[in-house]
Amino acid sequence: MITFKSQEDFLNMEKAGRIVATIHSELREASTPGIPLTTLDELAKSIVEKSGSTSSFLGYMGYPAYICASPNDVIVHGIPGKYILDEGDILSIDVGVSVNGYHADAALTYGVGKISAENQALIDVTRDALYAGIALVADGQKLGTIGNKIEKIGNKFSYGVVKEYVGHGIGLEMHEDPQVPNYGKKNQGFTLKKGMAICIEPMFNIGSAQTKVDDDEWTVRTFDGSNSAHWEHTIGIMDDEVRIFTEK
Ligand code: MF3
Ligand code: CO
Repeated sequence: MITFKSQEDFLNMEKAGRIVATIHSELREASTPGIPLTTLDELAKSIVEKSGSTSSFLGYMGYPAYICASPNDVIVHGIPGKYILDEGDILSIDVGVSVNGYHADAALTYGVGKISAENQALIDVTRDALYAGIALVADGQKLGTIGNKIEKIGNKFSYGVVKEYVGHGIGLEMHEDPQVPNYGKKNQGFTLKKGMAICIEPMFNIGSAQTKVDDDEWTVRTFDGSNSAHWEHTIGIMDDEVRIFTEK
């Protein structure tokens, strides 16, 4: 992974993060019953083009879209296709862009129209787990401690904590070392240092943690068909603070 030599280097991460946050808020507003996922992708495309940034997703290992759009039982990497949003759906959107070569990446999950209390709890707990992980980010912190905290929160609510997909370092590539798992043992694993940037991204399922991949080789679903939530931010350990780049 890269380590940033100066605060200046973080400026591009900040710019990329702000664009990601803008895309998320615009897409969220547009996510109403009757809207096809392709419309959300088109909206993301137009914002990226206007912003002067570059999509981190389009063309990544052949990925065909600007966003991942993962409704209901889709955990992650849903390709925005002809699926039309329905009242009561939950939807995870994942977006990444780069500015001057520096990437930022974030995901969130929200309801379409009115959703069940069970779905809202899933969304809220997954978000809380992300923020509990972020609260532990510091110079000298071990990734095992962060993963352990996230995993414990998922377990407390009997959610399936997805293990096959993990967070990552980020900088001049969207995916850099180290892996940032949503599980682990306290005081073990990679040690974070000043100048590093990582993505933490818990994925919790109402049912089991087991996953399966569609024939399109991208779409990852829960094995049991239960709903799944995904939250992610890009976080930098700067000289004097830990900054969430992808938050407005
Ligand atoms: N944003 C995802 C992640 O958090 C990666 C998306 S892969 C892509 O790691 F191919 F869809 F871009
Ligand atoms: Co990511």
